[in-house]
Amino acid sequence: MKKMKRISCAFFIFFLFVGAKAQHVFNVKVNEPKADVQKTMWGIFFEDINLGADGGLYAELVKNRSFEFYKPMTGWTIKGKKFTEGAILAVNRKEENTANPRYIQVTLNNASPGDLGLTNEGFRGMGIKKGVRYDFSIMYCKAAANIKLHVELVDSGGNIIGGAEFTPPANDGMWHKAGVSFAANAMALKAKMNVWFEGNGMIDLDMISLFPGDTWKNRPGGMRADMVQKLADMKPGFIRFPGGCIVEGFDLSQRYQWKKTIGPIESRQLIINRWNFEMANRPAPDYFQTFGLGFFEYFQLAEDIGAEPLPILNCGMACQFNSAEVVPLNGLDPYVKDALDLVEFANGAVTTKWGKVRADMGHPKPFNLKMVGIGNENWGPQYLERLDVFTKALKAKYPAIKIVNSSGTDPVGERFDLLNDTLRKRNADIIDEHYYRRPEWFFANANRYDKYPRNGAKVFAGEYAAQSDKTVSVNNKNCWITALAEAAFMTGLERNADVVSMASYAPLFAHVDGWQWTPDLIWVNNLQCVGTPDYYVQKLFSLNKGTKVVPVTMNNNLVEGQDSLYASAVTDAATNELIIKIVNASGKEQQGNVALDGVKNAALKGVFTILKSDDGLYSMNTFDNPEKICPQEKEITVTESKLDIMLPAYSFSVIRVKM
Ligand code: AHR
Repeated sequence: MKKMKRISCAFFIFFLFVGAKAQHVFNVKVNEPKADVQKTMWGIFFEDINLGADGGLYAELVKNRSFEFYKPMTGWTIKGKKFTEGAILAVNRKEENTANPRYIQVTLNNASPGDLGLTNEGFRGMGIKKGVRYDFSIMYCKAAANIKLHVELVDSGGNIIGGAEFTPPANDGMWHKAGVSFAANAMALKAKMNVWFEGNGMIDLDMISLFPGDTWKNRPGGMRADMVQKLADMKPGFIRFPGGCIVEGFDLSQRYQWKKTIGPIESRQLIINRWNFEMANRPAPDYFQTFGLGFFEYFQLAEDIGAEPLPILNCGMACQFNSAEVVPLNGLDPYVKDALDLVEFANGAVTTKWGKVRADMGHPKPFNLKMVGIGNENWGPQYLERLDVFTKALKAKYPAIKIVNSSGTDPVGERFDLLNDTLRKRNADIIDEHYYRRPEWFFANANRYDKYPRNGAKVFAGEYAAQSDKTVSVNNKNCWITALAEAAFMTGLERNADVVSMASYAPLFAHVDGWQWTPDLIWVNNLQCVGTPDYYVQKLFSLNKGTKVVPVTMNNNLVEGQDSLYASAVTDAATNELIIKIVNASGKEQQGNVALDGVKNAALKGVFTILKSDDGLYSMNTFDNPEKICPQEKEITVTESKLDIMLPAYSFSVIRVKM
């Protein structure tokens, strides 16, 4: 009997222990602001990778519209009952037009629809929406009289879901633009476009294009509205563009040159996209940069979504993982000039050379550029030497422009140390750090910036993403554990807002049928966008950015992993609110008692937002269930400056209360 009693007593104690939820007191010192949170704190990084621009954000539906891909008829099929050899020829006029040398010459012999035509497959098909207007256009020259074009959209079942016909007005031997618009009568995820020719004689064609009418802000030839909306919803503090490795290029001939991306789109010289061939297991032989989305459009996008533009420029070095080509130091002038001219393009008066170019493109007002990045993931003494030349020239002419400097590819190691030490000694403005690491690294490094010098160069966490598998593995997934790890890490960035002035996840977009790199923040198909759990973490931080960091402690210590809890807090001067972010990275529910030190006895109303997975750590948002993991809100009340909260296992909570 005695023995039985002892056993049941032991059981009771065991259950008491297991059943009890850990209680934690979080002290928030509301009246002890530590640092300003920069307006730029949470931003986005856009690169044309994973069909991010061509086939993605840039709403053009026709692939290879100007026949400039290495194989001129990529994306196109010639068809028809009366097709004869040479009826459609790719003509090259390189001497006369270096930017856009090729066009096609179509020769018709009393053709009717069905006799001779072209099909364009789109970028992994064309996404077509019922009732939306589609604008078909061409550039044409030397058209014989009465040649008619029959345009039709065809879904994957072979049904015609919209179309129109039109006759380019007979012309004078010059290149002209013409087009026709029509509405689609059904939806299709992967449609294609046929163009049938009718008539007799020849017509030269170029820039065969199809855009939806419902682009962002209804701009003709504009961007996919649903994709831009996803960015606008984040209210990003900045947008870094256009890359990434595409800034560097495989070799210098393939580097990004902003001057070639502005002006009339038919004069923007296409180049191969580095992501075309970079990933051996994800080749994309049809991936080129048409620059329909060029620097003017990036600046305009930044303005539209209220983000500071952060253009990154080539520093005279190609990708060091690829050719590692460098420009000799005495050959850097054109590169430096590009940087200086870019500032003039963005900010110069309309009377300046480049300010006028901007005005002629429709934006006389300056874009108010405040920072420029020199180099992407460049490293070594060669980078430092070149950077020095750029820095001197930029600071001499535009002292107010802040320069973003590279710290290479990794957040540790010799390369990093050399750059970080030298740049700090040089009193650099901003140092860009990149981390693609396992979730464990992100949890363990939530305190990374606690140890950084508080003065001198600011940190830009310019590219980061937790990797569920290995870095650059095709098996990486955007699942709940990656998002949670990033949230924990971001509490550390926020807590150290005096050191970290900017941060952005990378990469931003990926097309389900055209990606090269995982994980990615937002996944798209031709019609839909899906925000990953990581997207919702980014969005929650950005929408709850606040203006001042205030201390949040547990037993007088910063909350950076004890009991798997991570926390940061800010106040928001504009709304007079306190915002606390807490990550519970443990598998158990934990109870918290939040004590607001410095707020008087208030009964405060607030909102508790929780982001968690009901389906395990590897759960993901999908096209069928895009909001499986997304923020849920409920109202809360703070009584006598205290708030009891329940932190579910593996969750990220944001508490927002009026002060
Ligand atoms: O974000 C994908 C790539 O990762 C970027 O282009 C590059 O900067 C980094 O290596």
